[in-house]
Amino acid sequence: MSAAEEQNLEEEEVDLTGAHQVIDKYIDMKGALMPVLQGIQDFYGFVPEACVHLVAERLNVYSSQIYGVLTFYAQFHLKPRGRFIFRICMGTACHVKGAGRICDTITDRLGVGHAETTEDLLFTLEEVACLGACGMAPVVMVNNDTYGSATIQKIDEIIEKYRGQAAEQ
Ligand code: FES
Repeated sequence: MSAAEEQNLEEEEVDLTGAHQVIDKYIDMKGALMPVLQGIQDFYGFVPEACVHLVAERLNVYSSQIYGVLTFYAQFHLKPRGRFIFRICMGTACHVKGAGRICDTITDRLGVGHAETTEDLLFTLEEVACLGACGMAPVVMVNNDTYGSATIQKIDEIIEKYRGQAAEQ
């Protein structure tokens, strides 16, 4: 099956019940588009293409307008994201302290690059600007957990920790 066919299949398989519920909640509100998109993202973890078409139809706006909003605001994601979001600080202090090597290590271990998600949907990798903890450089965050003075060994331990968490549930 080609990647395009797989993607079409994924789109067809999206259960739109959650999206309908979100739209029902905001449909009578002025400026409903943003809360609807946010609600859909909260529900699915991203904004599936099928939902874009549904929102366009129910809110009577063009899909292109919705994509304009989704691509303008960094908070929205058009692809599924991992359960654990690895944020690697690439700010100056972290860069000087070897963030590049840390980033290469994570890429090597997980097999994904910036803004990509592992096939098992466990991890998403994001390179970000200063995380505001420069004194602990190089800094990595996984969801809401912050790890300072990151080393290659620590990165391996961190990845194992979250793999272990996932396996337990
Ligand atoms: S530069 Fe990395 S936390 Fe500030």
